[in-house]
Amino acid sequence: MTIPLIGDKFPEMEVQTTHGKIKLPDHYKGKWFILFSHPADFTPVCTTEFVAFAKRYEDFKKLNTELIGLSIDSSWSHIKWVEWIKDNLKVEIPFPIIADPRGFVAEKLGLLHTASSTHTVRAVFVVDPNATIRVILYYPAELGRNMDEILRIVKGLQVSDKYKVALPANWPNNEIVGENAIVPPASTVEEAAERPKKYKCFDWWLCYKEIPKEEAEEARRFLERVARPKSE
Ligand code: BEZ
Repeated sequence: MTIPLIGDKFPEMEVQTTHGKIKLPDHYKGKWFILFSHPADFTPVCTTEFVAFAKRYEDFKKLNTELIGLSIDSSWSHIKWVEWIKDNLKVEIPFPIIADPRGFVAEKLGLLHTASSTHTVRAVFVVDPNATIRVILYYPAELGRNMDEILRIVKGLQVSDKYKVALPANWPNNEIVGENAIVPPASTVEEAAERPKKYKCFDWWLCYKEIPKEEAEEARRFLERVARPKSE
């Protein structure tokens, strides 16, 4: 079976969730969605991740982005775990979780580890409003995901789409070009010669251009506002 890759359409499927049956990707038509899988319910790192996703749910929604979890546990297990989190950690899980006890969904998405078919891997699919998979992240069992980075991914892709630009490392706080966008490398001799005349460049193959200042500022303010406080 081939698994979907970046740039592919998210495969159509009906899934059983803690909020009822959902048709993917149609259910999220016009929105971004993040499907994230976790190894198993009632495991410590996964519990910290669910709390972290829940605490950022409103921030994701500000980016027109929905969340949906997935593991090969049953609905009953998910429900009990969500209840446990609410009772013991005082955090409500507001998004649906796919119950996939036979592993059909996990297999379609390439989330079953060959070393352990009883656990889904820790993965993140970021899907855009046209149902195109834009990012796939895989994490090991021993490291929980970073919500600040997942929010930056969505915000960065939205800005990249709006201005048809590529964005640099750590955008909007890049070490060499700041909040500016990267100009794609020249592919002809003529283009290469023109680049330094049209853009600011370190060389013809490393040029950058401004995106509207207010857009970059808004992105920076948003990402700073939603960043997890260090003392939290
Ligand atoms: C955890 O989430 O803590 C975990 C999940 C799978 C294997 C080991 C730890």
